Amino acid sequence: MRTILSLNDNWKFFKAPHPEDTGDEIVTLPHTWNAVDGQDGGNDYHRGTCWYERKLSKPELEAGHRVWLEVKGAAMTAEVYLNGEKLARHEGGYSTFRVDLTDHLKDDNVLAISVDNSDNDTVYPQKADFTFYGGLYRDVNLIVVPAVHFELGYCGTPGIKVTPIVDLEKQSAQVAVEAWVEGDAKQVTFTVAGQIQTAVPAQGRAQAAFTIENVHLWDGVDDPFLYTASAALDSGDEVSARFGCRKFEIDPQKGFLLNGRSYPLRGGSRHQDRQGAGNALTLEHHKEDMAIIRELGANTLRLAHYQHAQEFYDLCDENGIVVWAEIPYITMHMKNGRANTLSQMEELIVQCYNHPSIAVWGLSNEITAASAVNEELLENHRALNDLCHKLDATRPTTMADVFMLEIESPILEIPDVNSYNLYFGWYLGELEQNDEFFDEYHEKYPDRCIGFSEYGADANPQYQSAAPEKGDYTESYQCVYHEHMLAMIEARPWLWATHVWNLFDFAADGRDEGGKNGQNQKGLVTFDRQLKKDAFYLYKAAWNKTEPFVHLCGSRYVDRTEDVTEIKVYSNQSEVSLYVDGRLLASQTGRTVFKFQVPITGEHSIEARSGSCCAVMLVRKVDALNPDYALPGRATVVNWFDQGENDPTCFSVSDKLGEIQAHPQAGPIINQMMAQGAASRGDVATAVKDNPGLVRMMGRMTLLSLLKQSGADAESIQQLNRVLQGIKKS
Ligand code: GCU
Repeated sequence: MRTILSLNDNWKFFKAPHPEDTGDEIVTLPHTWNAVDGQDGGNDYHRGTCWYERKLSKPELEAGHRVWLEVKGAAMTAEVYLNGEKLARHEGGYSTFRVDLTDHLKDDNVLAISVDNSDNDTVYPQKADFTFYGGLYRDVNLIVVPAVHFELGYCGTPGIKVTPIVDLEKQSAQVAVEAWVEGDAKQVTFTVAGQIQTAVPAQGRAQAAFTIENVHLWDGVDDPFLYTASAALDSGDEVSARFGCRKFEIDPQKGFLLNGRSYPLRGGSRHQDRQGAGNALTLEHHKEDMAIIRELGANTLRLAHYQHAQEFYDLCDENGIVVWAEIPYITMHMKNGRANTLSQMEELIVQCYNHPSIAVWGLSNEITAASAVNEELLENHRALNDLCHKLDATRPTTMADVFMLEIESPILEIPDVNSYNLYFGWYLGELEQNDEFFDEYHEKYPDRCIGFSEYGADANPQYQSAAPEKGDYTESYQCVYHEHMLAMIEARPWLWATHVWNLFDFAADGRDEGGKNGQNQKGLVTFDRQLKKDAFYLYKAAWNKTEPFVHLCGSRYVDRTEDVTEIKVYSNQSEVSLYVDGRLLASQTGRTVFKFQVPITGEHSIEARSGSCCAVMLVRKVDALNPDYALPGRATVVNWFDQGENDPTCFSVSDKLGEIQAHPQAGPIINQMMAQGAASRGDVATAVKDNPGLVRMMGRMTLLSLLKQSGADAESIQQLNRVLQGIKKS
């Protein structure tokens, strides 16, 4: 019999070096020392070595029993000491590791674990847009097992590996079960779906093959049916794993298929942290996130940018959410980091293999953002790709590519399927460039599976606007942005997976923007999970098929200066009626987004109804913009380049760079201006010039967008506009 004892309580915590005078801060796991300073901005959160220390009495042991320490998450590097003797070191902040304490235990012991999240050049992540919290932020346990027991030491293995292969025609599944044994076991008894088989281990490994007829499929969010496989030893040790019988396919033209039917993966990403708790999450936190995800109606999650808690993968299994799992090989390739990418990937796959929800293994994220595509980078990716295929013959590999990576890059040939992170319409360029990018990519590479691994726009729910625009951090613009993206995605079912970045705001201590210091606000839900932004309800309207609702956008936009204001309703119903001060204004039939133009003169009650669903809010006509609605210091958004002021037969800054550059008279003017600008920007311009993909992308951006991006002042933009207005387009 295996006994698991929690060691979460009574840890003395202190920061190294350990000055004698530190008070004894006693903490309970899960714990992070960056719960506060990792979320308040300034990029000054504590990164270093800290110590956790506690007394440990030797448990009562039967002859031959072994005592293992199990650490489920120590970020980012940990060393384990027992009575001052160093027993182990683990590099990787997101996976489980175990240490055999048995031969070092006295009756009474001091167990110490040093944990380090310092800068270094070997353990990923080192450069990314999220806080690298430090701590023992998941459970720590003691596992007591008989002398003959299932494997515990190798890569934090569950000891049992289950491989279900479905035959849809026969409606059956072949289930291979393997188990690894420590000690002299005579036989292993396997049980799967009520069937029992025994096997004799050879070189510590036992296996059995089962057939499940009339198999009950794991069918995504509609029916995530789970079986259990178990393995037992005569010694009494036993391990088990739940598994799901499903068939995943990814096709370049059809996109994602589940159990033979089209099943486009539509969802978002999640970081494992929360306001006030850091990454020291409880099961309740995980369950609350999953409930929000189910309300949204997503059928997939990208669990970025690292291995998440087993409890969360379990929740994805139970809820039928298809998962993209990945390691934190991110942003910048490190010459000394190769071994760590391989060890983190090996632990991820060994520990998570049995989860039916996991569909792909992510090799890296935007790794070319700060690194050239050279042979070393390519080799590291090939090594990872081969490792994934060796450890798991059933799942494809993928990677999330940064928008500047040209689609001709050789690195894109390495993973089995591709996916891009694009931020056109937020960081740069126009919303339409997302459509153009994917259509060009799909046309040029019709045999490549293409996904959309990140897209998003920051929104602070306090900020509102009647004229939302890119970069204003308003809840209003986030809606405009996602309405475009949703329509773009729905028109491209061959996108095998699309993941909103992000479902939840998260800590990025290096950020200070959008009125919140230390946060990335691209979430559809706020960091504390207390507020679902309007854009959340856009996707709920498109994806949630079970809960009828209507949602009024702009409930936080009370004070309005416009005489006629747009009232937007998101709903998964086909008919919506709008009432103003109790009187029916209009009814519309449609899908997802319903827009009404409403004259306002004073204070009005606005009500949206559909059947028994209804939502109510208040709006008030005012003369002056409410300053609370705009990012402090941001000029009031008045689009002085209103197309109506420009002569459309002549060029203006609102035209696309490529069109202007192609004109014999306008082109030289712009090219000379950019050449002067490039001289000041140095290698960035060179990088652009040498990157045909980037040149193509910039050509599609409006000159105005690029000028704003480059920080040009209004006066110089107007001056250039006047020059261009003097040039006929013909
Ligand atoms: C990148 C990156 C994310 C980051 C996001 C953003 O695509 O992969 O980790 O948070 O951009 O800038 O919001």
